[in-house]
Amino acid sequence: MYLRNCWYVAAWAAEVGDGLFHRRLLGTSVLLYRLQSGEAVAIGNRCPHRFAPLHLGSRVGDAVQCGYHGLIFGSDGRCIGNPQSGGQVPPNTAVARYVLKERHELLWIWLGDPAIADPAMIPNVGFLSDTAATTTPGYLHVRADYQLATDNLMDLSHAVFLHAETLGRLTPALAQGELKVTRENDRVRAAITMRDIHLPIAAGPVDQWLDMTWQAPGVIVLDIGHVATGLVRPDHGRRAIHIVTPETALTSHYFFRNAGDGRAFVRDPFSEEDEPMLAQCQAMMDGEDFWALRPAILPSDAGAIRVRRQLDKMIRDEQASDSELTLP
Ligand code: FES
Ligand SMILES: [Fe+2]
Repeated sequence: MYLRNCWYVAAWAAEVGDGLFHRRLLGTSVLLYRLQSGEAVAIGNRCPHRFAPLHLGSRVGDAVQCGYHGLIFGSDGRCIGNPQSGGQVPPNTAVARYVLKERHELLWIWLGDPAIADPAMIPNVGFLSDTAATTTPGYLHVRADYQLATDNLMDLSHAVFLHAETLGRLTPALAQGELKVTRENDRVRAAITMRDIHLPIAAGPVDQWLDMTWQAPGVIVLDIGHVATGLVRPDHGRRAIHIVTPETALTSHYFFRNAGDGRAFVRDPFSEEDEPMLAQCQAMMDGEDFWALRPAILPSDAGAIRVRRQLDKMIRDEQASDSELTLP
């Protein structure tokens, strides 16, 4: 049950080069590669003959040849060649072709109805390219459902415990912060304000903010900063992106990139703290549905819950409009 008519991040643009790159997205294996022109394309990775993964095949110009019996597929997904049987290709032999757009150093894929794929709907994370000091793009495979990963990002109260020795040090007054959750169109913002506090990196008392803004399906912008107590805060502080894309029902892809000063911690907070905890939580769910387990709802996870409700609503609306279309 995924939202389909939306843009998911399939990969960092730099991950896809001349070779055949594959990644499972929403349960489906997708092949990504670049045409000779440099344009990145995405097609289904499962050969329709005996289901060999096409990424084990080879490039033939802008086409891809299956490594098992040699069928050749064009970048539009259609089978255009058969080196055997006198060259005969059975009619309608094809793999899926997906709409793919490269923007802000990311490859955005549309896995829903291609007729309504609108590039104007690609979330705008262009601020990262405007920032001189950007860190390198990060990717992490997460052994948990993308909604658990989203909860983790939208409920930063965990920083006090899980990240006590790392990220938590940047926001020592987080537990006393005031949380405000708002929705604007389809976006959900969880904004935490910590007033008149002391930070190791500031001389006098400051007001610190930590805002997370979510946009469907799993694009989150973090904005963190501080001003001297009582001063008006600027439009934004240091920003970072955190993007999750479902891989399967139980695993996800996590793309992140921080803008501004990167900090070295005793260990990596994402790969050594968040991911292992998420994997353990997922395992403890024993394959049960999140709501069926009747999770305790805390005031601090209001942002995460609002996101879950918003996403559920968008999925329901999409499915209702799909079934309207298919009614006799
Ligand atoms: S499995 Fe691909 S050509 Fe046979
Ligand atoms: Fe975390």
